[in-house]
Amino acid sequence: MKGWNAATFGDTMPDYDHQDWAVATDEAEATDFLAGFAKGGRALELGVGTGRVAIPLARRGVRTTGIEASAAMVGQLERKLGGGDEVRAVLGDFADVAAVARSQAPFDLVYCVHNTFLLLLTQEEQVRCFRGVAEVLAPGGVFVLQVSAPRAYLLSERQSVHTLDVGLDRTVLLAATHDPVSQRVDRQQVVMTEAGNRLYPLAYRYVFHAELDLMGALAGLPLSRRWGGWRGEPFTGAGFHVSVYHKPVG
Ligand SMILES: C[S@@+](CC[C@H](N)C(=O)[O-])C[C@H]1O[C@@H](n2cnc3c(N)ncnc32)[C@H](O)[C@@H]1O
Repeated sequence: MKGWNAATFGDTMPDYDHQDWAVATDEAEATDFLAGFAKGGRALELGVGTGRVAIPLARRGVRTTGIEASAAMVGQLERKLGGGDEVRAVLGDFADVAAVARSQAPFDLVYCVHNTFLLLLTQEEQVRCFRGVAEVLAPGGVFVLQVSAPRAYLLSERQSVHTLDVGLDRTVLLAATHDPVSQRVDRQQVVMTEAGNRLYPLAYRYVFHAELDLMGALAGLPLSRRWGGWRGEPFTGAGFHVSVYHKPVG
């Protein structure tokens, strides 16, 4: 998608928390899970957004920093904090996590939820991110990724249009193009109302869990556990998985 960059997603969502079709609602379960790994230490979120997960995690006593590429998103996070400093936001690109967060390392937990990792658009950027995470993690620390398996319908088509919502006052359509060689999807969520249309662009690179595990191995972060959800559900190959990579001690 011409003109897309790391800040585009956030910059086109000035009202992110109110986009019911875009925002996940699993923060309570996610926070329970993540707090168990942070063990009261220090955490770093990649793509922190408006602090949906980082704020409740910080309120459980985990000192939390978030990397965010979009200044507009950081503004929304700061408004939610209302002048508080429970979550420290650092403006930057999490492809370069080591450069952006090295001065605040080491972290006991680094995490990236809700498919945000896929917003790194090339394999090289995704591998660089894993390597950077390995650098900022404390020995014995973990990297938790919540990523969904690529959808079958997407893989078989080079373009698609899906209807996400039909109401009396709005219709939400999802139009996408797909390049199977680069594993890249460019899409627009189109919110259609009588007052006009709004476009929410998104570009991402999908990955199967096996490729993620290889990236972990290359970075010195082997997989330790994988579940199908925050409550320890089994992963069946479809939908979200929660994968835990660890930095060995010594
Ligand atoms: C899908 S939202 C998720 C936000 C939050 N983690 C949540 O779960 O509600 C992805 C966030 O990552 C940010 N982002 C995307 N690419 C980024 C990058 N390369 N570096 C830093 N932040 C990025 C976006 O601006 C956006 O705020």
